[in-house]
Amino acid sequence: MVIWFTGLSGSGKTTLATLLGQHLVQLNYKCCLLDGDAIRKGLNKDLGFSDADRRENIRRIAEVSKLMIDSGLVVLAAFVSPFEADRKMAREIIGEKFFEVFVDCPLEICEQRDVKGLYKKVRAGEISNFTGIDSPYERPTSPDLVVPTSKLNTDESLKVLLKEITSRL
Ligand code: ADX
Repeated sequence: MVIWFTGLSGSGKTTLATLLGQHLVQLNYKCCLLDGDAIRKGLNKDLGFSDADRRENIRRIAEVSKLMIDSGLVVLAAFVSPFEADRKMAREIIGEKFFEVFVDCPLEICEQRDVKGLYKKVRAGEISNFTGIDSPYERPTSPDLVVPTSKLNTDESLKVLLKEITSRL
């Protein structure tokens, strides 16, 4: 199965994917975590943040994820993946094993948290095309699961995920 986390930068995608992965490993599942910041330093370091590059980013990740699930791994993919059409493409590449989790957190809270200091840089004009500010985030219209991380703490979020996911693995 590919558990695909989508949401704004700072919404909690990587945190939840990491926690879920650790939990699944304890249950003896073999997992692989793919996340935007890591993938963009290696495999996709030739890509930027234009709409076309984001699409190519998602296409490659979806293809890699498909190979991984074919070898028996559970894939935890944490990508902003802001465009509905690109998430649909990922679902088409991966097929019925694609499970979309919308990590729902308002922009104001992501910006307040500003874990990586990126929002500050955006407001200072040092980064452009930033999702939620001057590049759109299209909220998923029919995600498989919504985790409202501004209302739940990490333990509660993990419980919601486990409840939905363990029965499908
Ligand atoms: S995606 O839009 O192509 O799915 P991806 O998840 O790979 O994005 O990368 C997003 C990460 O890159 C963010 O968490 C953030 O740390 C960093 N980043 C740098 N510039 C941008 C930008 N312009 N828009 C969004 N994220 C950015």
